[in-house]
Amino acid sequence: MDFLKTFTPELTIASPGRINLIGEHTDYNMGYVLPTAIGKKIVFKFQKNGLDSLCRVYSKTYDVGFELDLNAISKSEVEWENYILGVLNEISKRTGQVQGFDCILESDLPSGSGLSSSAALECGLAFGLNELFTLGLSKLDMVQLSQTAEHTYVGTQCGIMDQFASVISKSGHVILLDCESLEYDFIPIDLHPYKIILLNTKVSHNLASSEYNTRKRECEAGLKIIKIKYPTVKSLRDVDEVMLADYKETMDAILFNRCSYIVSENKRVLEMAKALQVKDLLSVGQLLYAAHHGISTLYEVSCPESDFLVEFSKDNPSVLGARQTGGGFGGCTLNIVHEDTVEQFIDEASKAYKKKFDIDLEAFEVTPSGGTSIVN
Ligand code: GLA
Repeated sequence: MDFLKTFTPELTIASPGRINLIGEHTDYNMGYVLPTAIGKKIVFKFQKNGLDSLCRVYSKTYDVGFELDLNAISKSEVEWENYILGVLNEISKRTGQVQGFDCILESDLPSGSGLSSSAALECGLAFGLNELFTLGLSKLDMVQLSQTAEHTYVGTQCGIMDQFASVISKSGHVILLDCESLEYDFIPIDLHPYKIILLNTKVSHNLASSEYNTRKRECEAGLKIIKIKYPTVKSLRDVDEVMLADYKETMDAILFNRCSYIVSENKRVLEMAKALQVKDLLSVGQLLYAAHHGISTLYEVSCPESDFLVEFSKDNPSVLGARQTGGGFGGCTLNIVHEDTVEQFIDEASKAYKKKFDIDLEAFEVTPSGGTSIVN
């Protein structure tokens, strides 16, 4: 792309990926989540190009780029372009003030690994354009328009967690977010002497998007049945175990399992927040294992690779807990590992994983980090 030769960035934005400590698939059920941004991120460099409507976007990481006309935004056949186009479409609808710009992206955030590189891409662009063209969007506007872009241009009917975590996070904390009211608290997270180690399964079963939307529909179908008896219930977040028990024999078993997972996962999020506040690390670990069990057996969004790594971690006394993080069907498992045995754990897990699946595991430590920011 020609503009690369003369590119002079005016603005640099760092847009992070996220982990979710616990509270998976609860966001679109209006429940609770406990995510945080991590140090891995996409860096965006921007310049205004003086043109009315021509924009050029180039990914240094993947050495691909494309041009677009702000007056003729439409969906692309190329998946990653839709994250950009979707955000531009939403921003144009809201502000109409964006003009020609060029943008170069560089990422150390593995895509398809459950760390929300999509939200990082959407929100980093929204954040950057807001600065570059002084659009006056609030952080919540950017979060919400990025989520809408994913619905309309990418086709995943995602909840709000990823975008929220990418933009709003605070270093050293997880966000306890109520996805109904969007009220949130920053909960300090001190796991010392344990560390958060991610094991990247390197698989991303492409069921992810279609099964994701299916899970959402299954929850809605379960909710519809529950509402017949409990008309004031607005979402699965308003349902508790006692209410749900009524349906054990009558509801379709799959729908029952989905609802049952969501109801118990919401409870686990609140228990996790309490465990962090009193630094009860044993409970932190147990909640992670319980959550993974639910993901795997009731919600069925795990996969053999993630299950294997979580089971493997259970044999290691220096691991407090583990579970698959993110939307599911692969990506990363999150492990709470004693600092003295991190290398040994990674080494053993890598060997066992290689032997079982013939895949080279990728492992790294993450720390709860701040949200999208300008880089000086
Ligand atoms: C994906 C979605 C989120 C959330 C998670 C599962 O990451 O984008 O909204 O639903 O899956 O917790």
